Amino acid sequence: MLQPGVPISDDPISRDILLQAAVAASHAAGALLLKYAEAGFRIEYKNPVNLVTDADRAAEQCVIDCIQAHFPTHRFLAEERGRLEETPSPYLWIIDPLDGTTNFAHGYPTYCVSIGLEYEGRCVLGVIFDPSRGELFTAVEQRGAQLNGRPIHVSNARTLDSSLLVTGFAYDIRETPHNNLDHFVRFALKAQGLRRTGSAALDLCYVAAGRFDGFWEVRLNPWDMAAGSVIVREAGGRLTDFGGKDLSIYGRELVASNGQIHNAMLAVLNQKTP
Ligand code: IPD
Ligand code: CA
Ligand code: CA
Repeated sequence: MLQPGVPISDDPISRDILLQAAVAASHAAGALLLKYAEAGFRIEYKNPVNLVTDADRAAEQCVIDCIQAHFPTHRFLAEERGRLEETPSPYLWIIDPLDGTTNFAHGYPTYCVSIGLEYEGRCVLGVIFDPSRGELFTAVEQRGAQLNGRPIHVSNARTLDSSLLVTGFAYDIRETPHNNLDHFVRFALKAQGLRRTGSAALDLCYVAAGRFDGFWEVRLNPWDMAAGSVIVREAGGRLTDFGGKDLSIYGRELVASNGQIHNAMLAVLNQKTP
């Protein structure tokens, strides 16, 4: 059992203990985000469409503090602080303290805390907490995926015609021709419906829960994908790049689906513009 603030030294550490620590950290950071949402926050602009708030930074510190209290030797890769001091630990926590910052800044309640864990380079655990809805998505390698403790599974849609798809756009949308608008237009004409929620981590959870049938995006970062990729995989979904190779969270292309529509999605993504 995990005792508050007590360091754990065993290695390998039980997955239950790691999960408990990640869940506690996600709840603490989620509560902090709700507090900032109510009390107000400061916004800084990385560019006109890419912003960061003091809530992002506070939530990140909160997650790191919670996890470090138990695992002081573990490594961290966090969106706002980057890589923390390197130790030889096989554990790497990959954190997006606030996925959906633009939504958060506008009071649009679709954002989350995302905490993934790599062990020896493989993503083995994912926790994503949506504090506005009180939805906690969790997965541990080979143990399935859960929403608030109940098993979840990807959908059964077999065709794009019957699929609800989701995507997102990177912050350099104005600077690059590889801005995903071409794919967006094609899928808009093929899918039953298309959404852009503004939180890649929740998009992955919704594929895992069967709410979306497929999700694709370009130029995501490891912290957008780490936790969600475990959750989709454990919910029975498939994750690749646009070429159909197994997903690397350090790559820049992601396709996540229920498996059944995956090849149809790849075909659209690889269609040559006439
Ligand atoms: C962003 C969101 C968004 C996606 C962007 C991400 P942030 O993360 O996940 O849905 O389209 O590519 O950068 O900045 O809100 O953590
Ligand atoms: Ca993000
Ligand atoms: Ca973020």
